[in-house]
Amino acid sequence: MSVRPPIAMLAELTHRCPLACPYCSNPLELLGKDKELDTRTWVRVFNEAAEMGVLQLALSGGEPASRPDLVDLTAAAHQAGLYTNLITSGIGLTPKRLDALEQAGLDHVQLSLQGVNAGIADWVGGYKGGFDRKMMIAEELKRRGIPLTLNAVMHRQNLDDLEETIEMAVDLGARRLEVACVQFHGWAQKNRHMLLPTREQTEAAKQIVAEAEARLRGVMAFDFVPPDYYAEYPKACMGGWASAGINISPDGKVLPCHAAETIPHLEFDSVRDKSLKEIWFDGAAFNAYRGTDWMPDPCQSCDRKEIDFGGCRCQAMAIAGDASATDPVCSRSPMHGRVTDLLADALSETSNEFVYRRLSRSA
Ligand code: SF4
Ligand code: FES
Repeated sequence: MSVRPPIAMLAELTHRCPLACPYCSNPLELLGKDKELDTRTWVRVFNEAAEMGVLQLALSGGEPASRPDLVDLTAAAHQAGLYTNLITSGIGLTPKRLDALEQAGLDHVQLSLQGVNAGIADWVGGYKGGFDRKMMIAEELKRRGIPLTLNAVMHRQNLDDLEETIEMAVDLGARRLEVACVQFHGWAQKNRHMLLPTREQTEAAKQIVAEAEARLRGVMAFDFVPPDYYAEYPKACMGGWASAGINISPDGKVLPCHAAETIPHLEFDSVRDKSLKEIWFDGAAFNAYRGTDWMPDPCQSCDRKEIDFGGCRCQAMAIAGDASATDPVCSRSPMHGRVTDLLADALSETSNEFVYRRLSRSA
């Protein structure tokens, strides 16, 4: 098969983060500051990415504002010709820092939202005062006219606030709202019993989003990621493994998706040792599930195999214990019964406590 270069890169600059979200998508083993790539190496990687055809760069984490060199990295990415999108909780940003980021050429901000008021947002994020600081930054972004996407991470505890979330996004001048229901690989699995929405919530959310999309056409765009445990077919995760996007971990490992390290047999090359181009085209992890040849049945003989690419490899790992299995979310998967069991378990547990995510002292 002919392999095209990636168009988007997500640079996880750090795992450090003031928040402790119970659905954190970073790996179970977080990396400390001493393991992070230095400024010069990131700048080289940005230039390599631009040379091989990457157009968009997401500066992410952890909380990317934890990196003191964020402005320098943004400027370097901008100079390399990349469209820069800062994915942030807003904590660690200040009006002064926003001035510098604007001057450095920052193109876009994606601000996470844990809830529509301080009570729920600070509880979910495990960070008191976080909501008020985030709103201050959101107002600053609006005043400056920096294009904003609001990334509302939704789950059982806040999905009933969806209409209010949409109103809030409009008030903040967001151009796009991501209604992103929590995905369950990595840390989020520890909190499935608290996070998994009910079927009724999911159906109501679909209707609310459809109605708001029609009403707000031309004002605000929507990305809706429903909880796929209720879906008939899985999502085409990453648009297909190693087809368009590339992720770099804080220590320079090059990953086909943000959760790829949950697949234990994969080995990941590092930008410290090899060029991005070599890793993308020839790396073993990238070629493990690229295209459709690797697929087992029922995917191999399925009419949807070039639509959803067998679903999510990390979800297959999390639920079936086998990353090369058909995503068990698929109603055609022989493992689909496990999803039904997980749903029943998660909805029957009664705990009201999150298991928060925090960087350990040793890291
Ligand atoms: Fe997609 Fe495989 Fe299910 Fe077919 S069998 S719908 S390709 S996950
Ligand atoms: Fe890794 Fe879906 S998150 S393939």
